[in-house]
Amino acid sequence: MVSSLSFKVSLTTLALGLSTFVSNAIAQTTFSQFNCTEFFVPVDISAQTVKLNLGNPHNQSELSGLVTRMTYLNSTIVDEVTVGPSMVNATFNIWSELCVPGGFKEDGIIEFTIHGSTENHTYFNFGKESPFNYAEAALKAGHAIFTYDGLGAGKSDKPDGIQDVQIGTETAVAIALVEKLPSLLSFGKVIGVGHAHGSVIMIGMLAERGDLFNATVLTSIAPVLFGVTEGLAAMDVKIAAEVVPERYHGLESSYAVSGGLTNDQITFYHFPFFDPEVFLEMQSGRELITLGVLLTLPQNGQALNYTNPLLVVTGDRDYFMCGGNCNVTDGDFPSRPAAVAGLFPAVNDFTVHIPENTGHFVNYHFSAPQTFTFIQQWIGGRV
Ligand SMILES: *[C@@H]1O[C@H](CO)[C@@H](O)[C@H](O)[C@H]1NC(C)=O
Ligand SMILES: *[C@@H]1O[C@H](CO)[C@@H](O)[C@H](O)[C@H]1NC(C)=O
Ligand SMILES: *[C@@H]1O[C@H](CO)[C@@H](O)[C@H](O)[C@H]1NC(C)=O
Ligand SMILES: *[C@@H]1O[C@H](CO)[C@@H](O)[C@H](O)[C@H]1NC(C)=O
Ligand SMILES: *[C@@H]1O[C@H](CO)[C@@H](O)[C@H](O)[C@H]1NC(C)=O
Ligand SMILES: *[C@@H]1O[C@H](CO)[C@@H](O)[C@H](O)[C@H]1NC(C)=O
Ligand SMILES: *[C@@H]1O[C@H](CO)[C@@H](O)[C@H](O)[C@H]1NC(C)=O
Ligand SMILES: *[C@@H]1O[C@H](CO)[C@@H](O)[C@H](O)[C@H]1NC(C)=O
Repeated sequence: MVSSLSFKVSLTTLALGLSTFVSNAIAQTTFSQFNCTEFFVPVDISAQTVKLNLGNPHNQSELSGLVTRMTYLNSTIVDEVTVGPSMVNATFNIWSELCVPGGFKEDGIIEFTIHGSTENHTYFNFGKESPFNYAEAALKAGHAIFTYDGLGAGKSDKPDGIQDVQIGTETAVAIALVEKLPSLLSFGKVIGVGHAHGSVIMIGMLAERGDLFNATVLTSIAPVLFGVTEGLAAMDVKIAAEVVPERYHGLESSYAVSGGLTNDQITFYHFPFFDPEVFLEMQSGRELITLGVLLTLPQNGQALNYTNPLLVVTGDRDYFMCGGNCNVTDGDFPSRPAAVAGLFPAVNDFTVHIPENTGHFVNYHFSAPQTFTFIQQWIGGRV
């Protein structure tokens, strides 16, 4: 982390506008049609969290024991370790990337993305000129796009993985970043785009503040995580510092990674509808999940004050969200993803898209290019 400090872009600098912040940025990549800039954003937050009566696991056996208890029928582990409400007041450095297409106008559209657990910003910006690169699809549609490494992931800060990296902190960080967007770029409309746990964070943001986005796209989501128990067991999480020491040496044992290739496949992919090379590359960049996040997975609340258009995109074979079968009725709703409408009672313009032969990592299945086109066209038609 020390080496990153010299790259920090101060807020004052960011507030001066895009041209200044570009020259201060840590890296700049210029393609023929768009520019991407990478930088750290320091965010000050005061977040509502939960005090957990739990220490870092001493070894893998203790971590596996804890996670197994989370997967018990009618598990009570969350109640057992929850002491009560708490707060995290802190400044965290969040690694971010802003990509802007050539000729972007002041009334243009920017997409604000949030990746899921065991991922980083790469989920939305995979490879160069890849059919699986969501950011490139957004840029081709003329939209700017903001991606970041969430708290406790990628190059962003990794504070206490039990007390600090929880859903409440992640939500506060995301709201603070959305509020900073106008100091980074002049734009007209902002669209929220979440994936999986990132969609859960986004529902939390909109429950707190209905006015954040002009339209919202939630991917890989259902109102209840129907497959979370099986998913957690199948993921077989391991202490990150022990199994990926080349990247995570020294990280406390509250930070975990998925067990390996087969664990990733069962939980995130639907065989054989994905590219094996993409699958291997994603696994080699294995990302983190903290015990704090696992123990504060919320019951999604209702976002009563959000009134703008909403699109839900969930693969028909999403394991975490639907236990591998999304296209089944849920109460009065025609499918589990369609039931997300129940969380947004003030939304009139609601669309559901269920790509076929697609698992939890929607962006990495063969259906991705059509899904990206669907999403960009939906955005273009709404705002
Ligand atoms: C793991 O740590 C626990 C203490 O939490 C200890 O009781 C147990 O023997 C250890 N197991 C192994 C396999 O080292
Ligand atoms: C789990 O809880 C449900 C009600 O919430 C109850 O009907 C069921 O019997 C419980 N199952 C077990 C194994 O305790
Ligand atoms: C955090 O900040 C809030 C006000 O924003 C304050 O009431 C609270 O006491 C602070 N908590 C800690 C632990 O500093
Ligand atoms: C990228 O940025 C450079 C300088 O910052 C600018 O000259 C160039 O026109 C930009 N290209 C696009 C496609 O926006
Ligand atoms: C959406 O876009 C317009 C700009 O056309 C803005 O004035 C409006 O307040 C925005 N926000 C929301 C939440 O609708
Ligand atoms: C995390 O980011 C790095 C680049 O910063 C990338 O190489 C790696 O594949 C990413 N991991 C995931 C799971 O997206
Ligand atoms: C929703 O909006 C109403 C009216 O503006 C306001 O009183 C209420 O506090 C808002 N609720 C939330 C959760 O923001
Ligand atoms: C969902 O199921 C219905 C009824 O079985 C079927 O007609 C439809 O094609 C399915 N849709 C998808 C996206 O799988």
